[in-house]
Amino acid sequence: MHSSVQASQLKLMIMKDAAVLFVCLALAILRPGVEAVSPPYLLDPQCAKEVHVQVVNGQDASILNNPWMAQIIEGGSFICGGSLISPRYVLTAAHCRGKTNQGLKVRLGDYNIGTQFDCTNEGCIPRPKDYAVDRTFVHRSFVEYHNYDLALLRLNTAVPYGVHIRPVCLLMGGNSNWRWNLLQTIPSFNVTGWGRTATTKVSFPLQQAELQHYDNSHCIRSFGRQLDHTHICAGQPYSFTCNGDSGGPLTAKAPAVAGNHIVLFGLVSYGFNQCNGPSVFTNVLPYTNWILWHINRYP
Ligand SMILES: *[C@@H]1O[C@H](CO)[C@@H](O)[C@H](O)[C@H]1NC(C)=O
Repeated sequence: MHSSVQASQLKLMIMKDAAVLFVCLALAILRPGVEAVSPPYLLDPQCAKEVHVQVVNGQDASILNNPWMAQIIEGGSFICGGSLISPRYVLTAAHCRGKTNQGLKVRLGDYNIGTQFDCTNEGCIPRPKDYAVDRTFVHRSFVEYHNYDLALLRLNTAVPYGVHIRPVCLLMGGNSNWRWNLLQTIPSFNVTGWGRTATTKVSFPLQQAELQHYDNSHCIRSFGRQLDHTHICAGQPYSFTCNGDSGGPLTAKAPAVAGNHIVLFGLVSYGFNQCNGPSVFTNVLPYTNWILWHINRYP
């Protein structure tokens, strides 16, 4: 008697589950092509906002407005630029990764390479800090710099944020159409870097240039290579200076979705060596799920 009551209850439960499953399946079938997407959000809500600064001379970047800037250093030499995106992760180009993690480190909070204490008319910042890299994640489809040119470097400890060290913002969520349309609304970007000073051993402040966002066809014509939604083409028509480093950030504001936060859109990938005309950047927006997966898996 007792056991048959249990059996009928069980039967009822199975029927309920089956009903729920049926409703879910029906919804999935009735709404084809609807991705399960979350609304846009910032990877790290404490990421940088634009701070009001005095006008800076020429191509020198603001000392306070680029706190995510990272130098990737291998065996004591500066090899690439990068961007802090969370307390433990720096995003750079895949072609910048070290041969091993041994001796690979990241310097944060620097402004003038070659001086210990950095000051401008905006004020002074504390000394830079070096962090060892304990893991490197390169996109598994990366072969050479023309595609999938991005890598995550995990620092061996979490970085405390301050006036001179803070991540740039990454926009997460949304679907691929939303991300592509957002990118089309950005007319220009900033690129920052020390401009390949590894060989020119001079004291040098961080440099900045504003680049126009070009249609990809512009870079396709210039480089004779196919590009897709994972690339950004940008440049200046009349600039003959090198203001960026491989792996360095291409940023912009996206006020409609990110207020006065500074958003990372691209990474310097190729073409920049010519120091004029258009260059190709890795578009980070298609890779946000790839980034999130690693950060969650290896926090
Ligand atoms: C570039 O940076 C300057 C100074 O930090 C800022 O005023 C300007 O709005 C930025 N431009 C873009 C496109 O983000």
